[in-house]
Amino acid sequence: MKTNLAKEEYYTPEQEAIVEEIIESLSQAQKTLSCKYFYDEKGSDLFEEIVELDEYYLTRTETSIMNNNIEEISRLIGKNCILIEPGSGSGQKIKILLDNLIFPSAYVPIDISESYVKDSANKLSKNYPDLKILPIIADYTGEFKLPGFNFEHENLVVYYPGSTIGNFSPEKAKEFLKKIAHMCGKDSYLLLGIDLKKDKEVLEKAYNDGSGITRKFNINILENLNNLIESNFELDQWAHKAFFNEDKSRIEMHLVSKEKQNVNINGYTVSFNKGETIHTENSHKYSIDKFCELISDDYRMNKVWTDKENKFAVLLFQSI
Ligand code: AVI
Repeated sequence: MKTNLAKEEYYTPEQEAIVEEIIESLSQAQKTLSCKYFYDEKGSDLFEEIVELDEYYLTRTETSIMNNNIEEISRLIGKNCILIEPGSGSGQKIKILLDNLIFPSAYVPIDISESYVKDSANKLSKNYPDLKILPIIADYTGEFKLPGFNFEHENLVVYYPGSTIGNFSPEKAKEFLKKIAHMCGKDSYLLLGIDLKKDKEVLEKAYNDGSGITRKFNINILENLNNLIESNFELDQWAHKAFFNEDKSRIEMHLVSKEKQNVNINGYTVSFNKGETIHTENSHKYSIDKFCELISDDYRMNKVWTDKENKFAVLLFQSI
C-alpha cells in the first residue's frame, strides 16, 4: 500500500434500512425516490454523458469559471489546506484544485460508490505522491465522521461543485451545510457551485436533451432499485418528464407510469395509476443573494465568481 493512501473508512447503510426508506418514500401521496439512487455505475456513467451534452450548460460553465479564476481561488484558500469533497465521484473535478492550490496537504473523497472512491484514490495517490488521501465510503447525506487530521495542515476546505446543493430542498441544503460547518469548525472554507435562475426554456432543455440521455438516466433509477433490492419495476412502463416549477424555482424530474400497474418491493405491493408519477429529483435554481441568505446563519460569503451570461456561480464562503 502506498504510504500516502489511508485505508478507506466505511459508513454504508444496512440493506433493511434501504428497503424501508424506499417503501416509505413510495407510500406517500406524491411518490418519490431519493436522487441518490441515480448513481450506480451505469447511472454515474450516464451522468458523465449528461455533462458533455450541448444542452447541459452547467458543468461546462462551472469549469470555465474555475479555470478563469483559479489563481485568485488558490490565493484566497492559501497553503497546506485539507480538501474534503462530498460526492467526489470519479475524482475528476478535484484536479483543478490539486493542480493549482499551494501544497494541499490532504484530500478526503467521500462517495457512496466504493469502486469510484477506491479507483480515484488509487490514481490520485500515484499522481500526487505528496498528498495524503483519506477515502470515505458513505452516503454523505447520512452519518459519517471526518478522520483525525494528525499532521501539519492549515484550513479545511469543503469543495461541493456542480450545483449538487440544488438537489436538496432549501431547508435540507441549509441543514446539510450547517452540519458541514460544525464538522469542519469555525473559519473553514466552503467552495461551491450553484446554478442560477434563468430562462425557463434554457432550463427545461438542459433536462430534456435531444439525444435522450437524461431520459435514460431517469429511468435507470428503477433499474438500480431492481438490482439493489427485490423490486420488479418494468422499465418500458415509465416515461421521463422534466419541467421548471416557477413557484419553487426548481426543475422537477418525474417518472410517469404509462399504465395502471403494481410493483412488488421485497414482498410489499405498490400500486400506480396510469399517469401517476414518481418524483425522482429536484434541481433548485437560486439567485446569489437568496443562496447567501439561506446559509447566512452559518457562513459569510467571501467571494463570488460568475460567467459573462450569469448562468452559474462559484462561491467561496467561510464558516462563522
Ligand atoms: C448532480 N446534479 C447537480 C444534476 C442536476 O443538474 O441537478 C443531476 C442531473 N439530473 C438531470 N440531469 C443532471
